[in-house]
Amino acid sequence: MSALLQPITTATGLKLRNRIAMASMTRNRCIDAYKPGPAHVKYYADRARDGPSIIVTEGVLVDWAGLPWPYAPVMVTEEHAAAWRVVVDAVHKEGALMLFQAWHAGRCQNDEMPTMKGTGRPVFAPSTIPAEGWKYRDLPGMPGHTANVKAIDDPRDLIDTYRRSVSLAKSAGFDGVELLCQGGYLPQQFLNTRANTRTDAYGGTVENRCRFTLELVDAICEIFGGPEFISVRMSPVDTLNDSVVTFEETQETYTYLIKELVRRKVGFINICRRGADLNVKTDDVYSRYPRPEGYPLPLGYDPVLDFSPLVKFPGSASLLMVNQDYGFQEATELVEEGKIDLLMIGRPFMFNPDLINRIEKRLPLAINDRGNQVYYGPYHTPDENYNDWPVAAA
Ligand SMILES: Cc1cc2nc3c(=O)[nH]c(=O)nc-3n(C[C@H](O)[C@H](O)[C@H](O)COP(=O)(O)O)c2cc1C
Repeated sequence: MSALLQPITTATGLKLRNRIAMASMTRNRCIDAYKPGPAHVKYYADRARDGPSIIVTEGVLVDWAGLPWPYAPVMVTEEHAAAWRVVVDAVHKEGALMLFQAWHAGRCQNDEMPTMKGTGRPVFAPSTIPAEGWKYRDLPGMPGHTANVKAIDDPRDLIDTYRRSVSLAKSAGFDGVELLCQGGYLPQQFLNTRANTRTDAYGGTVENRCRFTLELVDAICEIFGGPEFISVRMSPVDTLNDSVVTFEETQETYTYLIKELVRRKVGFINICRRGADLNVKTDDVYSRYPRPEGYPLPLGYDPVLDFSPLVKFPGSASLLMVNQDYGFQEATELVEEGKIDLLMIGRPFMFNPDLINRIEKRLPLAINDRGNQVYYGPYHTPDENYNDWPVAAA
């Protein structure tokens, strides 16, 4: 049996049925008041059946936000939590754990989007530096991320925002939380000198830039009663949403951050290698992340292999989960060589609701033959391109 399909027990005795997790994927289908509905219940339960050990939700916003995806979920009320409870129960019934992905977009949003307009909330960020990029197709003139950014007075207020949302997630029955610290969103904005020019305890030195993320982790641990079910998702060489920094800054930041997370015994260090030159030849928009000029990486640099020894050493209580364009052979070898613990898979789960069954039986995997528009829509009903990918014939 492939090493990926073998069970694994964590340092605290938690049994995972295999080493495969389903990645967080925004699918933009919360058409009923930003809550999941029957389409979500089916989508997640189908994928949990005989499936991965862990499923991470699509990014769920911890506050109202003006994103380019008008139907992304929000977790700010008890109604939101009650709707997620139905999804979590269905996933548990199929034997998978479910983590809530906590997402705050920070400066990567637009306050003209209807979800924000009525709220009176500003677009908060570490500093008043707008993010470049993006196109808000629903707004006249298709602007990018807003220039109207408000520097956060006290970052602990934002930690309280997360705290409220994560407490709702706990009440919905989630097993734990994945903190989204990549993609150029709020925690990564604090980590990054491109977005963070603060002169207080949350900016400047590496310790200060990592403070927001580490305090968030501590707050979530308090709510969930420990670090075992916390995953911290990071993408050290990412360039998405105006987040690129020099290789030297990357090394300094993530070496410190990962050491601190492992010292706290965080359950899962989830490293995505997006932004590294993987030599993948494809038309898929999700595999092409060219680095801007002036930010070179050493030839063949792979952040997973670089940072793996910080997580994988005798006595470490943290598991290393990895992601982005992995083939099963490559991931199996990395598990066998003791370099990683878990593989997180994204896109193949969209097109193969029975992915683990197909891996087990060596059945061919369905590929996306419908084009890049299947990811977020447009669609006529939430089930379209979501719940209409068949399982393999027996
Ligand atoms: C449609 C789509 C939506 C995504 N949404 C999220 C998200 O909400 N949160 C997140 O952390 N990553 C998100 N990602 C990134 C995936 O979690 C994953 O990193 C990516 O698909 C690469 O993994 P893969 O090569 O196994 O597909 C998204 C990816 C896709 C394709």
